Amino acid sequence: MNKQQINDFDKIVLTGFMVSLARQFTDIVYAQELAQLIEKEGLVKLSQPQNQDKSVLLTARVEARYKAINQVIAQYQITQVLELASGLLPRGLLMSKNPNITFIESDLPEMIRYKQQLIQQLVGERSNLHFIEIDATSRPSEFIKSTPLLKAGQPVMILCEGLLTHLTLVEKELVCTNIREMLHRYSGVWITSDFIDTGSLMRSQQDDSGLKKLLQAGTNLTGRSLVNNNFGTLEQARQFVYEQGFRATEYNMLKVIDELSCLEILGIDPEVVRRMLTTQSVFALTLDSHPS
Ligand SMILES: C[S@@+](CC[C@H](N)C(=O)[O-])C[C@H]1O[C@@H](n2cnc3c(N)ncnc32)[C@H](O)[C@@H]1O
Repeated sequence: MNKQQINDFDKIVLTGFMVSLARQFTDIVYAQELAQLIEKEGLVKLSQPQNQDKSVLLTARVEARYKAINQVIAQYQITQVLELASGLLPRGLLMSKNPNITFIESDLPEMIRYKQQLIQQLVGERSNLHFIEIDATSRPSEFIKSTPLLKAGQPVMILCEGLLTHLTLVEKELVCTNIREMLHRYSGVWITSDFIDTGSLMRSQQDDSGLKKLLQAGTNLTGRSLVNNNFGTLEQARQFVYEQGFRATEYNMLKVIDELSCLEILGIDPEVVRRMLTTQSVFALTLDSHPS
């Protein structure tokens, strides 16, 4: 990976702040505390609160994917978790309250160092909550940094939300290779909401001009399209997953619509959100033991 590419990823860091600020309009535990801390430190100069107010579908999306992934996590009895591109997600903070869980948060250096410092301010240190620097696309794999923290012979749960959507196809393949290596070594599952089709994003932008503005702002900030790096159709996403050697089980995000607090907080029309979530799924991916 050359220096230019590394800097390129570093710009995606900013989107971590955008979605974190969107989560403040939900009842997700610790979301408000985290958003307040980052605003207090003046790190975000995107006049987010005003924008986020209008970007109701971004908030609905991030709340739905967070809660849907949590539902899928609950179906597995796996106690070691590696979260990729954690950004400012509060999941590690929540799940590590259970001392039987080893939770490893990872992201690019700048973001994960910042996250660790925020968590330190909020709850101090926890012996089962770890922060490591992982560029998920890097070859040779940086996932190896997590192995001293993981128990050999026990499965691992790999999570990511809002990472693959920014990456090119080649970069997505690199992430898949790194995840396959981990699942070969430990067994387990990869749970992600990141297989999205561009059509659904286009429709959501028509329903919410705030989302359109925000995706454009994100594209300008990162130099990467926040729409076009997704899959043309869901069928193409499924084909990609299959070709990458995974077997997928899909969980439709509509299952969490009754849990979405932002509908009331932001006064969002549930029908618009229903339309958006119909085509959104969380994928639970395991290694396909019989690739053709
Ligand atoms: C849209 S944010 C999502 C953050 C978090 N998952 C969430 O939902 O709030 C994208 C995240 O991807 C991280 N990121 C970008 N490129 C990455 C890479 N190559 N490897 C690991 N993380 C990366 C950014 O630092 C940022 O935290």
